[in-house]
Amino acid sequence: MGSLGYLLCKLGLLLLCCSVAANNEPLANAKYKDPKEPLEVRIKDLMSRMTLEEKIGQMVQVERVNATTQVIKHYFIGSVFSGGGSVPTPNASPEAWVNMVNDFQKTALSTRLGIPIIYGIDAVHGHNNAYNATIFPHNIGLGVTRQVLIQNPHSKCLVRPDRLCFLTVVFTC
Ligand SMILES: *[C@@H]1O[C@H](CO)[C@@H](O)[C@H](O)[C@H]1NC(C)=O
Ligand SMILES: *[C@@H]1O[C@H](CO)[C@@H](O)[C@H](O)[C@H]1NC(C)=O
Repeated sequence: MGSLGYLLCKLGLLLLCCSVAANNEPLANAKYKDPKEPLEVRIKDLMSRMTLEEKIGQMVQVERVNATTQVIKHYFIGSVFSGGGSVPTPNASPEAWVNMVNDFQKTALSTRLGIPIIYGIDAVHGHNNAYNATIFPHNIGLGVTRQVLIQNPHSKCLVRPDRLCFLTVVFTC
């Protein structure tokens, strides 16, 4: 085997090693699942169990139309989001939003490590994708009023309906 072949072979072995989780202890009593363990301990435990594929998947955010059960399971997707106007059904109620996010969450929890997804929502005008939600002017419009008192209730109103729909990340810029 030439030196290039040898190098490629070593590289292949290296990649193979990287893609196998270092920590193969049973998952049932894993420290990362125990809320009583300190955060740092849980993070270290989880990281030591993740394969390279799982780490990559966790760093990826997928638009909801592409986030099929198969995609979430196969790629260990860490986050799903709704771009502007990307709704579960036309005129979707808060219940429809909750059901959709719960379905994504159930799929994520059924993967090997059961890491929950983060759901992102485009909410620049309040939770403007939910039917009948209160619509706010764009942030720049609120900004030029120079009234902090207007903006604080805005951000509170914004966060509450989103949390009711189990949406965990809100884009408001
Ligand atoms: C995501 O979904 C959109 C709309 O159905 C489609 O046009 C696009 O090709 C999909 N992207 C991928 C990577 O599957
Ligand atoms: C939307 O809001 C209006 C006014 O509050 C209410 O009459 C109507 O029933 C709401 N529609 C839905 C689908 O929630």
